[in-house]
Amino acid sequence: MILGIESSCDDSSVALMDAQTYELKFYKKITQEAEHSKFGGVVPELAARLHTAALPNLIEEISPYFKDIQAVGVTNEPGLSVSLIGGVSVAKSLCVALGVPLIGVNHLIGHIYSLFLDRQITLPLGVLLVSGGHTMVLNIGENGIIKVIATTSDDSFGESFDKVAKMMNLGYPGGAIIEKLAQNGDAKRFKFTVPLKHDKRIEYSFSGLKNQVRVEIEKLGELSEADKSDIAVSFQNSAIEHILDKLEKIFGEYKFKNFGVVGGASANLLLRSKLQILCDKFGSNLMYAPLKYCSDNAAMIARVATSKYQNSKFTQVGELAIKPRVNLDGMSV
Ligand code: KG4
Ligand code: ZN
Repeated sequence: MILGIESSCDDSSVALMDAQTYELKFYKKITQEAEHSKFGGVVPELAARLHTAALPNLIEEISPYFKDIQAVGVTNEPGLSVSLIGGVSVAKSLCVALGVPLIGVNHLIGHIYSLFLDRQITLPLGVLLVSGGHTMVLNIGENGIIKVIATTSDDSFGESFDKVAKMMNLGYPGGAIIEKLAQNGDAKRFKFTVPLKHDKRIEYSFSGLKNQVRVEIEKLGELSEADKSDIAVSFQNSAIEHILDKLEKIFGEYKFKNFGVVGGASANLLLRSKLQILCDKFGSNLMYAPLKYCSDNAAMIARVATSKYQNSKFTQVGELAIKPRVNLDGMSV
């Protein structure tokens, strides 16, 4: 079995995967959302402290499987350094104690593999990665090499939901809260423009949209429940139309046969339904991960580690470094 450990942001998670069949033998996640909620976002020092408390308990739970573990995979990039260090330290100690090899895993490649938890990866593949930290469109070639086609120049898609929720004192994370509120909203009341609509650049930007929302909230002063729902629906529509507007141009050029949407915000049902329409138009097969594995989790990390184990891609315990930021362009899956 391969052990996967994830602690790049505000979730501590471990998973055990059968290295031959990809079957998940154990999976658990301890999320810190409730603790960060009152601050409207992740507080790094608090996240680090909570990982330090949660990870030893998770490792204790898998101790009956210690004798079956053949390698330990851990997220070492990208993420909050104070969070990454928790998982990486535990992984290194376990490798030394159990005498098994260590495997460093890129968190974003983990999200890509959330589409293929129990099977071989399909290539070539187009990917929309929408999370709290990233908004990217990728083209992964037959050879597994990643090309970054589009990225965001400021906030990420998920982060913009979090910030809009924070402006209305709705808690963290904002994505699911905004999506739910939007169901009761009047989409005609507020007209938020779609970012970069008449701009030829193939990139994303959510800070202007966020500021349009801020101006409306300041004008309204005290917000009623109806105000919140009306803002949520118009904001969500503009943010998703922005994603689709640029994607349509990208599809025109890349004509993806297979297209996957991954990351925490891929749980958004309106986004999924709009992507389905786009994929149908271009004859593309749309893939998404089970809802449980859209947000951060160790199952996807164990899955990447299993592939790397099969290809003997190990890292020396003394050499595995933490990298808060990485450029995916040119990396391979
Ligand atoms: O992948 P993830 O769990 O963590 C990162 O790696 O960032 O993604 C979390 C992000 C948060 O910003 C959250 O608000 C967003 O995903 N999110 C959503 C939805 N569910 C989660 N955004 C929009 N609609 C949703 N239903
Ligand atoms: Zn993530």
